[in-house]
Amino acid sequence: MRDVVGAIDQGTTSTRFIVFDGDGAIVAMAQREHAQVYPRPGLVEHDGEEIWRNTEAVIAEALAKAGIAGSDLKAVGITNQRETTLLWDRRTGAPLHNALVWQDTRVDAMVAELAREGGKDRLRATTGLPLASYFSGLKLRWLLDNVPGARERAESGDALFGTVDAFLLWRLTGRHVTDVTNASRTQLMDLATLEWDPAILDLFGIPATCLPEIVSSSEVYGEAVSGPLKGVPIAGILGDQQAALVGQACFRPGEAKNTYGTGCFMLMNTGETPFPSKAGLVTTLAYRFGAARPVYALEGSIAIAGALVQWLRDNLGLIEHSADIEALAASVPHNGGVVIVPAFSGLYAPYWNEAARGLIGGLTRYAGRGEIARAALEATAFQTRDVLEAMAQDSGIRLTELRVDGGMTVNGLLMQVQSDLLDLPVVRPKVTETTALGAAYAAGLAVGVWSGTDELAANWAVDRRWTPSLPADERERQVALWAKAVGRSLDWTG
Ligand code: G3P
Repeated sequence: MRDVVGAIDQGTTSTRFIVFDGDGAIVAMAQREHAQVYPRPGLVEHDGEEIWRNTEAVIAEALAKAGIAGSDLKAVGITNQRETTLLWDRRTGAPLHNALVWQDTRVDAMVAELAREGGKDRLRATTGLPLASYFSGLKLRWLLDNVPGARERAESGDALFGTVDAFLLWRLTGRHVTDVTNASRTQLMDLATLEWDPAILDLFGIPATCLPEIVSSSEVYGEAVSGPLKGVPIAGILGDQQAALVGQACFRPGEAKNTYGTGCFMLMNTGETPFPSKAGLVTTLAYRFGAARPVYALEGSIAIAGALVQWLRDNLGLIEHSADIEALAASVPHNGGVVIVPAFSGLYAPYWNEAARGLIGGLTRYAGRGEIARAALEATAFQTRDVLEAMAQDSGIRLTELRVDGGMTVNGLLMQVQSDLLDLPVVRPKVTETTALGAAYAAGLAVGVWSGTDELAANWAVDRRWTPSLPADERERQVALWAKAVGRSLDWTG
């Protein structure tokens, strides 16, 4: 039998298990969605128990589809929605509260309070991140302050903190570790030492006793102790956006990818030293394979991309299925002057404005469903353009093309609009499940399925390329309108 490697891909809206062969091709896949819990505007939670149940279910389903046993897998990797914060009981593994999802803005008052002294960027030099409700550290602080008994249990080591990678690894192997990429999103880790920063723990009021050990992204963390994966080494962990960077084989400084999922995240490999951002990006870990030197990235994080399409589907009933957005948007020749700024969780990169809120502007009686659908797709493309400009400013590198992946890249109209608004070719690879692929690569590297990054890069192949065709003056006109709309959305609740 050929070598096969598995990947658990625990995302914001669903959990998948994918089996890959040695060429990085998909052998079988299973997927389940989980509930999004919205207790109040701005709050987003997940049930950790449901996520675990779905993880177990998709593993069993995908193995059955592949016609293999878990023990046939050489290794399994984990990739996950980043920043989403859990606290669980060390003895039972039961979460003390629903997970606080990365999009949740409940800590915005703490952010404002901390920023009052020293400004939003006071922790950037150490952590690479601006103060924002996005990251895990303050979410953990909220749990410690608001769940009865949580602080005492965390202090005595009876309650454990982790992002979803750590929670799943704990359930699978009983080890309490997280990889450098996930740790870099807590705002508690020093980017240079790759250790928890005692001064920040102090500032945030977080006891070190509840934190996982920080480890590399590719090593054998342990073997699964029960279930269909019993005895299989769990050997890779990468936050999902970093996993996509690895799956897209962006191993050289200056190589970048953009992933269109619930949100949209552009990461550029910047090599072995952290690269500070002045233009509103974040500095983050790209990956660390075993004992090799860590590799860093610049990231432009966009909170809402595919989630806007889901919102049009679920909250407005504008379309029945997400995929219908393309035909509806293509039914009109242009946006008719409509612009949507989807600042549902404030605006992330490059604005970092917690108080921004979404708006639909430019409405006239001419505007209809088609124009709104088109403006929704363009919102993702405009936000990506803002991030790409910041990337060029920070790194001094102008990309010559953009590698893309993620669910929305099946949307040919969006990809063409993206190419037009960036004035750059947009390239989609054959395997678009790059997130899971990256986690499988990390796990496979640790157990010798692949020899190194050159072999992984050789698996990468182009599926389709879009080239720009919009006249420059029209592009500039649209970009100016977008900038005006963004300006109106900022500080909405401030
Ligand atoms: O930082 C949040 C990100 O990791 C979520 O990714 O693919 O679940 O939207 P996704």
